[in-house]
Amino acid sequence: MNVSFAMPQNNRDIEQKIDQLLAKMTLAEKIGQMSQRNGFDGNAAMIKAGKIGSLLNEVDPDKIRQAQKLAVEQSPNGIPLLIGRDVIHGFRTIFPIPLGLAATWNPEGVRKGARISAKEAASIGINWTFAPMMDIARDSRWGRIAESFGEDPYLASKMAVAMIEGFQTDDLSRPDAIAACAKHFAGYGAVEGGRDYNTVYIPEQLLREVYLKPFNAAVDAGVSTFMTAFSDLNGIPSTANNFTLKQILRNEWNFDGFVVSDWASISEMITHGYCTDERDAAEKAVNAGVDMEMATSNYEQYLKELIEAGEVSMETVDNAVRNILRIKYRLGLFEHPYVDATDFPEMVNDDYLKTAGQIAAQSIVMLKNENNILPLSKNIKDIAVIGPMADDKFEQLGTWTFDKQIEDTHTPLQALKEYYRGKANIHYSKGLEISRSRDHKYFKEAIKAAKKSDVVLMFMGEEAIITGEAHCRANINLPGGQEELIKTIARTGTPIVMIVMSGRALTMGNILDDVDAILYAFHPGTMGGPAIVDLLTGKKSPSGKLPITFPKVVGQIPIYYNHKNTGRPPIEKNFVQIDDIPVRAWQTSLGNESHYIDAGYKPQFPFGFGLSYTTFAYSDIRISNKTIKMGDEFVVSATITNTGNMEGDEIVQFYTHDISASITPPVKELKGFQRITLKPGQSKIVEFKLHTDDLAFYNQEMKEVTEPGKFQFWIAPNSDSGSPTEFEVVK
Ligand code: BGC
Repeated sequence: MNVSFAMPQNNRDIEQKIDQLLAKMTLAEKIGQMSQRNGFDGNAAMIKAGKIGSLLNEVDPDKIRQAQKLAVEQSPNGIPLLIGRDVIHGFRTIFPIPLGLAATWNPEGVRKGARISAKEAASIGINWTFAPMMDIARDSRWGRIAESFGEDPYLASKMAVAMIEGFQTDDLSRPDAIAACAKHFAGYGAVEGGRDYNTVYIPEQLLREVYLKPFNAAVDAGVSTFMTAFSDLNGIPSTANNFTLKQILRNEWNFDGFVVSDWASISEMITHGYCTDERDAAEKAVNAGVDMEMATSNYEQYLKELIEAGEVSMETVDNAVRNILRIKYRLGLFEHPYVDATDFPEMVNDDYLKTAGQIAAQSIVMLKNENNILPLSKNIKDIAVIGPMADDKFEQLGTWTFDKQIEDTHTPLQALKEYYRGKANIHYSKGLEISRSRDHKYFKEAIKAAKKSDVVLMFMGEEAIITGEAHCRANINLPGGQEELIKTIARTGTPIVMIVMSGRALTMGNILDDVDAILYAFHPGTMGGPAIVDLLTGKKSPSGKLPITFPKVVGQIPIYYNHKNTGRPPIEKNFVQIDDIPVRAWQTSLGNESHYIDAGYKPQFPFGFGLSYTTFAYSDIRISNKTIKMGDEFVVSATITNTGNMEGDEIVQFYTHDISASITPPVKELKGFQRITLKPGQSKIVEFKLHTDDLAFYNQEMKEVTEPGKFQFWIAPNSDSGSPTEFEVVK
């Protein structure tokens, strides 16, 4: 979907300015623009000489100002610096981790959150964030799934675009806008076995159909920069991948921002076995289209020599510098290189906290609510609060929160004490020191607390540091002694509400029957505590829905909703359990279908799933025309009614399925969603407008086509419910 348009006047001005500047720059300065260094300390002389174009990880506002002053006022051509930082899900005010943000299915909330993050970061001089990460992730063993928007290309695209818009606004030159970065290009989420940095093989069709979709949407949304991945892709490191960086990004998508490597990913191509030495790595990266080198200095050391040897052309270097300068001009850095914090709202102000709380509340997914134990009864007198995540200001913030201040955090225990002051007694025990602890030193007091209470709230999960980069797990159940603690508390007979804070989908089969309710809160950020308490007490109804499929056991991975049908799909009635198989049975008696005899084929919780305190009925599911002419638009709609007795939000999901195509189609694909609010008894007609182009897929020639034929669609509360309606697309 590339639109060609005449270059607007300010773009033309920028190109002219770049030409003029380039004509004045020495080769050393050009290479300088292509080099990014960590922190200000030790780099002053280089900045002054014009040999550094960007710093990352400098967050001291005075040092940023000093660095910027050196660049602007003392370097040969006065080119301002890009100051980059990982502002992933908040700067000071921390929002839910991206996986939690995706669970809100609320792009508007994500945009708002990113706006706040941009303002906070920009107020100290940061003008570039390394976010959003838009790697499609289908494997919760991978620690970085926490940073992703989950498994679905449509949902991830919407979230990525919203985040980019929040960071950049529609005018990048505003002092409170920062450049965004689409990362990690490409395929990083598909590392083998969920082991970070590992090998990636993705056939081109799947790459285009799934993994590249959010990146393409990011380019269309005007993202300023791209970051390559640490991993290789089909045998070629992403950091020297001509196919993705040139053919796709530049030729097909017309991206005109710049590409930065990941941290030392240019040097790591030697370890990959793809480059012989650093000179070779610099040559391969720059010739593939990596404009800026992060952290290492291969460009600085070898580019001059490579140009002299004719292995890298001057045009390649000029193009890279042009791409970088273009973003510096668009950011308005030449006009306003310095920032003054007093021009910005205060960080973590009440408004920001309120927004963070609203987003967190929308990100929490209720997975179980036996006997409607939630919301908690108003008559409750004694509440046990147990678990290592109940009152931990650090852990609930999640991965990649470099600039947090821990005292900003509002924990669930604090919020519960506040809410129940004078109304009920809170009996608190940590239960376990941290999520990984195994010792029983708090078990006795935890049992005592449970015994004297009407309900137990168990705050379980993962500490922030066992999620995120490099923190992959082969077992994805609750770590340490948590399952044991749950079983111990369950024996007291007091009902248990489990609240999980985690960076991935955890397997919970071992304890699912021991708890009465589950609120899955991911790592909810600064305002996680009040957000959880709003749901526990029924001030709000849970409304998050899963952005990833939750497996029953780790051996089911990869498991995702938009899989293929295969020639032998599982059929419930034929499902064979391992213990039902007769001894020495003939091979043919086994039920030859695609499933596990010890885990079935269904996940624990499907993509898109989430419960509410109220109930929603779907009726009148319609399509404007059952026969649609190729090239036409059509509308599908459904009436959603709140049939319960509480106001609530429902996330209405729209899926399609191509019944037969020249590439085997997925069983379902998300094509639209809407978050709506309904009062008890209220109905709303929800419409999704589609063009036949929206049914397209990449065919064997890698052309995006819609083929005529029969399709199905669903409008449903999750990916595993509702019944299909058929329609046909004709030539
Ligand atoms: C990560 C990137 C990050 C960079 C800079 C790398 O380790 O893979 O996502 O932006 O560090 O901190």
